Amino acid sequence: MKHSLTVCILLIVGSALTFAALVSASSPPAADGSAIQLVEALGCRGCHRILGYGGSTATDLTEVGTRLTTAEIAKFLVAHPGSDASRSMLTYTTLSAEEIDKLSNYLYNLR
Ligand code: HEC
Repeated sequence: MKHSLTVCILLIVGSALTFAALVSASSPPAADGSAIQLVEALGCRGCHRILGYGGSTATDLTEVGTRLTTAEIAKFLVAHPGSDASRSMLTYTTLSAEEIDKLSNYLYNLR
Protein backbone atom coordinates (compact mmCIF):
# COMPACT_ATOMS: atom_id res chain seq x y z
CA MET A 1 0.00 0.00 0.00
CA LYS A 2 2.70 2.47 1.02
CA HIS A 3 4.76 1.42 -1.96
CA SER A 4 2.05 2.07 -4.53
CA LEU A 5 1.41 5.49 -3.01
CA THR A 6 5.09 6.38 -3.51
CA VAL A 7 4.95 5.20 -7.13
CA CYS A 8 1.83 7.28 -7.65
CA ILE A 9 3.46 10.41 -6.22
CA LEU A 10 6.55 9.85 -8.36
CA LEU A 11 4.38 9.55 -11.46
CA ILE A 12 2.57 12.80 -10.68
CA VAL A 13 5.81 14.69 -10.00
CA GLY A 14 7.36 13.18 -13.14
CA SER A 15 4.54 14.24 -15.42
CA ALA A 16 4.43 17.72 -13.88
CA LEU A 17 8.14 18.13 -14.62
CA THR A 18 7.72 16.87 -18.18
CA PHE A 19 4.87 19.31 -18.71
CA ALA A 20 6.94 22.20 -17.31
CA ALA A 21 9.82 21.27 -19.62
CA LEU A 22 7.52 21.15 -22.66
CA VAL A 23 5.96 24.51 -21.82
CA SER A 24 9.30 26.24 -21.34
CA ALA A 25 10.74 24.68 -24.51
CA SER A 26 7.90 26.07 -26.63
CA SER A 27 8.09 29.58 -25.15
CA PRO A 28 10.26 32.21 -26.80
CA PRO A 29 13.59 32.90 -25.07
CA ALA A 30 13.36 35.49 -22.28
CA ALA A 31 16.30 37.71 -21.41
CA ASP A 32 14.43 39.28 -18.52
CA GLY A 33 11.37 37.53 -17.13
CA SER A 34 9.47 40.61 -16.10
CA ALA A 35 10.09 42.59 -19.30
CA ILE A 36 8.98 39.72 -21.49
CA GLN A 37 5.90 39.37 -19.30
CA LEU A 38 5.10 43.02 -20.05
CA VAL A 39 5.65 42.45 -23.75
CA GLU A 40 3.17 39.57 -23.66
CA ALA A 41 0.63 41.30 -21.43
CA LEU A 42 0.63 44.48 -23.52
CA GLY A 43 0.38 42.59 -26.79
CA CYS A 44 3.42 44.15 -28.48
CA ARG A 45 3.78 40.97 -30.50
CA GLY A 46 0.37 41.58 -32.01
CA CYS A 47 2.19 43.94 -34.38
CA HIS A 48 5.91 43.49 -33.80
CA ARG A 49 8.10 40.46 -34.28
CA ILE A 50 10.49 40.03 -31.34
CA LEU A 51 13.15 37.29 -31.38
CA GLY A 52 11.55 35.56 -34.33
CA TYR A 53 8.04 35.48 -32.99
CA GLY A 54 5.15 37.93 -33.44
CA GLY A 55 3.25 39.97 -36.03
CA SER A 56 4.60 41.69 -39.12
CA THR A 57 2.41 44.81 -39.41
CA ALA A 58 5.17 46.83 -37.69
CA THR A 59 8.98 46.60 -37.64
CA ASP A 60 10.86 43.72 -36.07
CA LEU A 61 11.94 44.99 -32.65
CA THR A 62 14.78 42.51 -32.21
CA GLU A 63 17.18 45.01 -33.77
CA VAL A 64 15.57 48.18 -32.42
CA GLY A 65 18.64 48.81 -30.22
CA THR A 66 20.71 49.42 -33.36
CA ARG A 67 18.33 52.23 -34.36
CA LEU A 68 17.23 53.80 -31.06
CA THR A 69 18.78 54.35 -27.62
CA THR A 70 17.08 53.16 -24.42
CA ALA A 71 15.88 56.72 -23.79
CA GLU A 72 14.46 57.01 -27.31
CA ILE A 73 12.60 53.72 -26.97
CA ALA A 74 11.21 54.85 -23.59
CA LYS A 75 10.08 58.12 -25.10
CA PHE A 76 8.52 56.37 -28.06
CA LEU A 77 6.38 54.17 -25.79
CA VAL A 78 4.63 57.10 -24.14
CA ALA A 79 4.58 59.49 -27.11
CA HIS A 80 5.22 58.80 -30.76
CA PRO A 81 4.03 61.86 -32.63
CA GLY A 82 6.39 61.11 -35.52
CA SER A 83 5.21 59.08 -38.47
CA ASP A 84 1.67 58.34 -39.61
CA ALA A 85 2.55 54.65 -39.40
CA SER A 86 3.29 54.84 -35.68
CA ARG A 87 -0.14 56.31 -34.89
CA SER A 88 -1.65 52.85 -35.06
CA MET A 89 0.40 51.99 -31.98
CA LEU A 90 -1.10 52.79 -28.58
CA THR A 91 0.63 55.34 -26.37
CA TYR A 92 1.38 53.40 -23.22
CA THR A 93 0.79 56.29 -20.82
CA THR A 94 -0.53 54.09 -18.00
CA LEU A 95 2.78 52.26 -17.55
CA SER A 96 4.88 53.14 -14.51
CA ALA A 97 8.34 54.66 -14.99
CA GLU A 98 9.77 51.35 -13.80
CA GLU A 99 7.82 49.38 -16.40
CA ILE A 100 8.90 51.77 -19.16
CA ASP A 101 12.51 51.34 -17.99
CA LYS A 102 12.25 47.55 -18.00
CA LEU A 103 10.69 47.44 -21.45
CA SER A 104 13.10 49.86 -23.08
CA ASN A 105 16.19 48.27 -21.51
CA TYR A 106 15.00 44.84 -22.57
CA LEU A 107 14.32 45.88 -26.16
CA TYR A 108 17.54 47.88 -26.41
CA ASN A 109 19.62 44.90 -25.25
CA LEU A 110 18.14 42.39 -27.72
CA ARG A 111 20.46 43.59 -30.50
C1 HEC B 1 -1.34 48.02 -33.07
C2 HEC B 1 -0.01 47.68 -33.48
C3 HEC B 1 1.14 47.92 -32.51
C4 HEC B 1 1.27 47.46 -31.21
C5 HEC B 1 0.30 46.62 -30.41
C6 HEC B 1 2.56 47.93 -30.76
N1 HEC B 1 3.19 48.64 -31.74
FE1 HEC B 1 5.04 49.47 -31.64
N2 HEC B 1 4.82 50.24 -33.49
C7 HEC B 1 3.71 50.05 -34.31
C8 HEC B 1 3.92 50.81 -35.55
C9 HEC B 1 2.95 50.84 -36.73
C10 HEC B 1 5.16 51.46 -35.42
C11 HEC B 1 5.85 52.44 -36.39
C12 HEC B 1 6.27 51.87 -37.64
C13 HEC B 1 7.00 50.56 -37.49
O1 HEC B 1 7.86 50.44 -36.60
O2 HEC B 1 6.72 49.68 -38.30
C14 HEC B 1 5.71 51.07 -34.13
C15 HEC B 1 6.95 51.44 -33.67
C16 HEC B 1 7.53 51.03 -32.49
C17 HEC B 1 8.86 51.35 -32.03
C18 HEC B 1 9.89 52.19 -32.82
C19 HEC B 1 10.55 51.22 -33.77
C20 HEC B 1 11.63 51.84 -34.59
O3 HEC B 1 12.44 51.06 -35.11
O4 HEC B 1 11.67 53.04 -34.74
C21 HEC B 1 9.05 50.77 -30.83
C22 HEC B 1 10.29 50.82 -29.94
C23 HEC B 1 7.83 50.06 -30.51
N3 HEC B 1 6.92 50.24 -31.54
C24 HEC B 1 7.62 49.34 -29.36
C25 HEC B 1 6.43 48.71 -29.03
C26 HEC B 1 6.20 48.04 -27.77
C27 HEC B 1 7.23 47.86 -26.67
C28 HEC B 1 4.91 47.59 -27.79
C29 HEC B 1 4.15 46.92 -26.67
C30 HEC B 1 4.14 47.65 -25.40
C31 HEC B 1 4.34 47.98 -29.09
N4 HEC B 1 5.29 48.65 -29.80
C32 HEC B 1 3.06 47.68 -29.49
C33 HEC B 1 2.61 49.29 -34.04
C34 HEC B 1 2.35 48.66 -32.83
